[in-house]
Amino acid sequence: MTQFISVKDAGNINALVKKALDYKANPLMDQLLGKGKRIGLLFLNPSLRTRLSTQVAASNLGMEAIVFNVDKEGWALEFEEGAIMSGHTVEHIKDAAPILGQYFDVLAIRTFPSLKNREDDYSEMYINQFIKYAGVPVISLESATLHPLQSLTDIITIQEALLTGKPSASRPKIVLTWAPHIKPLPQCVANSFAQWVNAWGEADFVITHPEDYELAEEFTKGATITHNQDAALQNADFVYVKNWSTYTDYGKVYENNPAWMLTNQKLAFTNQAKIMHCLPVRRNIELSDEILDGSNSLVTKQAGNRVWAAQSVLSAILNR
Ligand code: CP
Repeated sequence: MTQFISVKDAGNINALVKKALDYKANPLMDQLLGKGKRIGLLFLNPSLRTRLSTQVAASNLGMEAIVFNVDKEGWALEFEEGAIMSGHTVEHIKDAAPILGQYFDVLAIRTFPSLKNREDDYSEMYINQFIKYAGVPVISLESATLHPLQSLTDIITIQEALLTGKPSASRPKIVLTWAPHIKPLPQCVANSFAQWVNAWGEADFVITHPEDYELAEEFTKGATITHNQDAALQNADFVYVKNWSTYTDYGKVYENNPAWMLTNQKLAFTNQAKIMHCLPVRRNIELSDEILDGSNSLVTKQAGNRVWAAQSVLSAILNR
């Protein structure tokens, strides 16, 4: 593996999942693989899970991880080719990235979308500029449109549940449902989850959301899409809950109908579904306390699995 930006870089998804579960069983089995190697974790946006799980994963492989909060501690970076830098940006990415590529063996970057201009965000200019100029493998810690380490974690968590027979479905029904939120959020997690579940191909996949919250077809193609949440939830084995802002009329919040929040009453439609969310979550807005604190919730286990997803990907890059 030479980069990890989307499912297209993953190769065999089940092999990555198996490696992750092997690491979960024996975290230090490759503790010398990254000896003498260094990863730079660059954050242009906040993080709890992604930052810490990737640091732990690197440590398990004997690799040094250095975090740089670019947004707070670095020079303001310019990404536009040919920019006349008379504004607030101080350093061009084509100057900074090759230097970072000399300091580190692998670079990992978090860059959220602006949610102002869809074409700009969906061109993935920020992460593509890093890839273009860094000269070392680049891992996405969440980009403008995708969150592949989260999605690999999600497939690991689903596989793990299936391997223990809970739920006992050979071909599970997975539902991705929109949930209310108080502010516009990126489409990244939903796009990415859809992209990975479709590529994995081992589930019946349904996406449900209110009208006007359609995601980009390039990620959802292959899923059944409905605006009827109750119908979507029927016999579901896994329900993935996530808010996203509008894609077509880009970055808007059209409605926050609390009826879309998952409750135990809605859980009754499902096949005792396991409930997933990437976190952070706004309790009793996006997901109810009764679901998050209930026995069907996988969210804590899911967040724990972030380590094994990151370790599996780092291992594949170190072994390239
Ligand atoms: N799910 C996730 O990416 O969490 P953080 O934003 O805390 O990294």
